[in-house]
Amino acid sequence: LLQSNYKVVVLDNLVNSSESSIRRVEEISGRRIEFFKGDIRDYNFLDGVFSSQKFDAVLHFAGLKAVGEAINEPIKYYENNVLGSIQLFKVMQKYNTKSIIFSSSATVYGNSNNSPLKEDMPTGIPTNPYGRSKLVIENILADLYVSDPQWCITSLRYFNPVGAHKSGLIGEDPRGLPNNLLPFISQTAVGIHEKMFVFGNDYDTPDGTGIRDYIHVMDLASGHIRALEKYISKGGVHTINLGTGIGHSVLEVIHAFETVSAKTIPYDIIDRRPGDVGVCYADPSKANLELDWVANRGLIEMCKDTWRWQSQKLLL
Ligand code: UD1
Repeated sequence: LLQSNYKVVVLDNLVNSSESSIRRVEEISGRRIEFFKGDIRDYNFLDGVFSSQKFDAVLHFAGLKAVGEAINEPIKYYENNVLGSIQLFKVMQKYNTKSIIFSSSATVYGNSNNSPLKEDMPTGIPTNPYGRSKLVIENILADLYVSDPQWCITSLRYFNPVGAHKSGLIGEDPRGLPNNLLPFISQTAVGIHEKMFVFGNDYDTPDGTGIRDYIHVMDLASGHIRALEKYISKGGVHTINLGTGIGHSVLEVIHAFETVSAKTIPYDIIDRRPGDVGVCYADPSKANLELDWVANRGLIEMCKDTWRWQSQKLLL
C-alpha cells in the first residue's frame, strides 16, 4: 500500500505480532505509518480512531486463524473474528466508510466441492470454528450490502499464503508450535524441531500426500491493491479467490525447501490430520480477468523467501 502511495493507518492488538514489524515496514518503504494499538472488539477504541480522520477503505485482516486452537477455544474465535468484525462494521457505518476488503479463506468452500474451486460454487460447511467464523463474516457483509447498497464489499478468499518479503525483514513468525506447513518446515530446517510430521500419504494424489495451492504473500498483497483499485468506489459484493491455480503436495514442498536451503528436513509420515482434505486449489480465473492479476511467484521463490526470512530472523 505504501509503495502504491496510499496513506496507511494500522490498528493491531499485537496478540500475534510485534510493533517491530511495523517499524521494519517503515524501513522498507521509507514512509511513516500511523499505528494504534488496540483491540477490534473495543468499540470505543475503534470510534476514537475513526473520529480522528476520514478513511476511504478498510482492509480487515484482524482475525485469529489457528484451526486447532479454534476447536479448543471456539468462543475466543467467535468473539475475536465475528464480534470484532461486527464492532468494526458498526463504526464504519457510523463514519460512512463503506468500502471494505475482508480476508476470507478457501475454507469457506468446505469439504464437498472438488478443486479447482470457483467463486460461484456453493459455500460448504467449514470443518472448524475458525472456518465457520470466516463464512459468517462473509454472510454478514453480504447482508450489510442488501441493507445499504452504498457498501462496497470484497471478500478475498486466500488459499495457502506463504513466503516473506524479499528483504527478509518481515515474514510470518507464529507464536508457539506452528500449525501450518511452511513455518514448520522452515523451523525444522533451522533446527528448532528435530523433525516434522507429514499428515498422511494415502490420499488420492500422485505421491499420496495432501495437495494445496500455496501463494506467495507478495502476490497476495498485490491482489489486495488490485482489488482496492478496482472496487473501492464501485459498490456491490465481490468475492475473489486469491490462489495460483497450481497445487503442490507436502513432499514436493519439503523437497523444494531442501533444495533452496541446502538442508535435510527429517520427517515422519503419520496419520491424516482430522478435517484435512486431500486436494485443495483455486480456479483463479476471476481474479485474472476482473483484477488483471496473476500470482507469478512459484514454489521455489516462496521457499527461498521463507528461508531468507527464517535464517535471517535469528539475527534480528
Ligand atoms: C489451514 C486451515 C485453513 C486455514 C489455513 C491458513 C485446516 C483444515 N485448514 O489450511 O482453514 O485457512 O490453514 O491458516 O486446518 N501438513 C503436514 N504437516 C504439518 C503441517 C501441515 O503434513 O506439520 C500438511 C497438511 O496435512 C496439508 C498441508 O500440509 O496437506 C497444508 O497444511 P496447512 O499449512 O496447515 O494448511 P491447510 O490445512 O491447507
